[in-house]
Amino acid sequence: MLTTRELQDEIIRLKKEKDICILAHAYQSHDIWEVADYVGDSYGLSVQAAKAAQSTVLMCGVRFMAETVKILSPQKRVLLSNSNAGCPMAEQMDVELISGVKKMYPDYTVVAYINTTSELKTICDVCVTSSSAVQIVKNIENKNILFIPDCNLGKWVADQVPEKNIKLLQGGCPTHVRMSKRDVEKARKAHPDALLLVHPECLPEVSELADYRGSTTGIMDYAKKSDAKEFIIGTENSIVQHLQFACPDKQFYPLSRDCVCHNMKLTTLGDVYQCVKGTGGEEIKLDEEVRIKAKRCIDTMLELGN
Ligand code: 13P
Ligand code: SF4
Repeated sequence: MLTTRELQDEIIRLKKEKDICILAHAYQSHDIWEVADYVGDSYGLSVQAAKAAQSTVLMCGVRFMAETVKILSPQKRVLLSNSNAGCPMAEQMDVELISGVKKMYPDYTVVAYINTTSELKTICDVCVTSSSAVQIVKNIENKNILFIPDCNLGKWVADQVPEKNIKLLQGGCPTHVRMSKRDVEKARKAHPDALLLVHPECLPEVSELADYRGSTTGIMDYAKKSDAKEFIIGTENSIVQHLQFACPDKQFYPLSRDCVCHNMKLTTLGDVYQCVKGTGGEEIKLDEEVRIKAKRCIDTMLELGN
């Protein structure tokens, strides 16, 4: 049996030999971070996906992230590390539902969080991620915005861009909404000197009490640069471990031990090994018409997000 280090060395050897770029979302485990060519939030992964020079891209994350790579780079072979890894929020709204809503709000620009299916992106105007949403919504000419599917992220954007008329629907991340105001009260009492850093997918009752709100990478950058020594982290709990590793002289506490995304946790180093060996993962295939229409939405995000 190979040790973790030996498995990692073999993955690194095979990815070079087979011209594979490994992209990992920040919620992946540390042993996967160590073999990745790039680790980041959804926006960073989209930018890297568009630039990667290799002929194959292996996405360690969830399905919509691998689909984003395929939408941007159809000539590449794109693999999803574990075919069961989906984002439940991305499945909450479909083309039929949003087509109906669009008829009710014909003069609204439809802004889709990138955590949506490729099919749904075909009928939306622009994608956003947590790190680009505020700037992109500000840059849209239309005052009327229909923001889907995450109403918590949408409310956070609406609060920062009050000049826009933002209509929200009832969707959201089942992992982040597990954290409550009560969790904040308990954590603040236990760690009175700590700063609270949260993801904007959290409920408003949590976000409103935070010292900083931002994407997974935004939270990590903030904690690394801050002079503070203690932090309560309101996002997927892998970020607590990554930060503790990166900043051993600081202390990090999870806002709730329940903030675990079981889909992000599905991928193991063993899956990554099977993928680079050629015996695992799922190759992403998209209908060409869907891909072209969905690409407009992501291209607009990359243009407006710069
Ligand atoms: P980020 O864009 O912050 O990486 O968020 C993606 C995600 O799925 C958070 O739950
Ligand atoms: Fe989807 Fe939430 Fe998991 Fe992110 S944390 S992948 S939004 S379910």
